Amino acid sequence: MLQELKRRDLPPVVTPGTTADNWQQRRREMIEILAREEYGFSPEPPDHVSAETTFLEERAWAGKAEHREIALKFPTPKGEFSFPVDLVIPYSDEKLPLFIYISFTKYPIGKYGPIEEIVDSGYALATFCYKDVTDDKDDDFSSGLAAMYPRENTGSAWGKISMWAWAASRVMDYVQTLDAIDKNRIFVVGHSRLGKTALWCGAQDPRFSAAVSNDSGCSGAAVSRGKEGERIRDIVTRFPHWFCENYRKYQDREEELPFDQHFLIASMAPRPVYVASAVEDLWADPKSEFLSCAAASSAYKLLGGRGLVSENHFPKPGDVFQEGEIGYHLRTGTHFLSRYDWQQFIKYMDRHFK
Ligand code: GCU
Repeated sequence: MLQELKRRDLPPVVTPGTTADNWQQRRREMIEILAREEYGFSPEPPDHVSAETTFLEERAWAGKAEHREIALKFPTPKGEFSFPVDLVIPYSDEKLPLFIYISFTKYPIGKYGPIEEIVDSGYALATFCYKDVTDDKDDDFSSGLAAMYPRENTGSAWGKISMWAWAASRVMDYVQTLDAIDKNRIFVVGHSRLGKTALWCGAQDPRFSAAVSNDSGCSGAAVSRGKEGERIRDIVTRFPHWFCENYRKYQDREEELPFDQHFLIASMAPRPVYVASAVEDLWADPKSEFLSCAAASSAYKLLGGRGLVSENHFPKPGDVFQEGEIGYHLRTGTHFLSRYDWQQFIKYMDRHFK
């Protein structure tokens, strides 16, 4: 594995002169590079967010939780913007940890969301459908949130991954106001393109105590240098709207990237981060996702942690590594967000945050 890491020749996250004391400066520098070259810069947060309850079910999920749908609202340069968010909060005398799950579909979030199990595990859930923020289309940034901010004519204007990530931070603004939620246990989760989004969200917004990426692959958890399956050329051709324009210059020139995706994971440090892969998800490339975790570990070690704690070889199907601040598992099967994946995320959070 070490040899393979050497072969990939990744730029270091801990550069000469970086110490535990000036780590936050290096972290900001990495986020700046990722914004400028890959995802685009996001605007400042709004002064305030507000919420209007649009639906309330007091005894949801067999009476175990309250389900509330809100319209989350905030001012933008072009007027008020609003999108729906669903909250499921178990009845409890104690403050609860919360997953903010960026979803492909509206509540009750379909095949990827075992909501009752999440509730039974003592976790609250806040979720929104990413398309309610802005369409997942190359639409010249004309839909939803994209149309609410003036678009600068630079190569680093925000792409849609940045927009969805920024929207999850607006949900974070709102849940900060809820008494039922433990502010030190709020985690962001996403699958695939929304796993890329969850990592970018967590990297930028330190109010998230942890971020979880499931099968996020290319331009998510997986390092691009030496990556198999999807490459930068594939992703910027099929999904140009996910990124800023500058990212296109790296197609077939991965070795010229002034960063790699392990910067995204290391930008979480010292906070925990979890990466899940699936054996048959060769488009995402589990090996490159795992290597990224290994390469990001130096940041955690610098800060007195351990990073990824695994065996010193590539994981076998079914391996779960949850000891370090970087958690990882390799599930059997295909590209999917399964119950098994959620169970591992919950186990990991229970272990690191109780
Ligand atoms: C496509 C894309 C991936 C992405 C996936 C998804 O397969 O190439 O990069 O992760 O869609 O979001 O489901």
